[in-house]
Amino acid sequence: MSDKAPIGVFDSGIGGLTVVKEIMNQIPGETIVYFGDTARLPYGNKSQETILTYTRQIIRFLVGKGVKVIVVACNTASALALETVKTEVDIPMIGVVKPGAKVAAETTKNGRIGVIATEGTIRSEIYNNYINNINPQVEVYGKPCPLLVPLVEEGLLEDPVTTEMVRRYTKELLDIDIDTLVLGCTHYPLLRKTIRSVVGEQIKLVNPAYETARSLKKVLIANHLENDPTVKSNHLFYVSDGADKFKKFAKSILPCEVVETKDVNIENY
Ligand code: DGL
Repeated sequence: MSDKAPIGVFDSGIGGLTVVKEIMNQIPGETIVYFGDTARLPYGNKSQETILTYTRQIIRFLVGKGVKVIVVACNTASALALETVKTEVDIPMIGVVKPGAKVAAETTKNGRIGVIATEGTIRSEIYNNYINNINPQVEVYGKPCPLLVPLVEEGLLEDPVTTEMVRRYTKELLDIDIDTLVLGCTHYPLLRKTIRSVVGEQIKLVNPAYETARSLKKVLIANHLENDPTVKSNHLFYVSDGADKFKKFAKSILPCEVVETKDVNIENY
């Protein structure tokens, strides 16, 4: 049995492409419909109500594209909206926080985990809750990093300004001797090189994207939704603003052709 319907993936911008890349690597037979809410980014400093409204609009858009599963490739929306919207649609939905928390809990040796993420994600304490559900002994220290998303969206992945901001944001986490650092925003894996250069080789960096793709595979199998891997995929990319800029970036990081990227007025959904 196979299901040719695509997988819907969304984020506030380009960050979710780090999750798409991992899905394409691990489940190459699937087709992706991606939505990046570039017109309304960043999500990290917005209220839960606003994130819920945005998430519902994007879900309506993706469901209209016939997706069989939705991956919330945004920590902020996973933290502030997923539990609510999950009950409102009848297709499976997964986020990135739970998989990331699982890896972090399994990775730490000294029981001290740092989480860098948006203000919304840190305020929700969702990483603390998930990690402590797995292991109540672990101490989780969150640090909001509001300037990192705009730096990534501007393409300043390796730049002295970005390095300086990563240094400031991670200083207190390094001072309290964490041994594991969760990249708790899907934009941050794009800064991996810079983050590594600041925190050094000893600290384990956790990118939730890998485990999210593994969870997705399990969901597809459990629900008999896998595609036939011999079928050639045509991925579709949509954004709420700046399709050309997005396309250029997507082409530079994804292991596939990015044939077309379209602008969508998401407020209409
Ligand atoms: N990439 C998103 C996240 O994982 C949101 C970043 C933002 O728009 O602030 O949280």
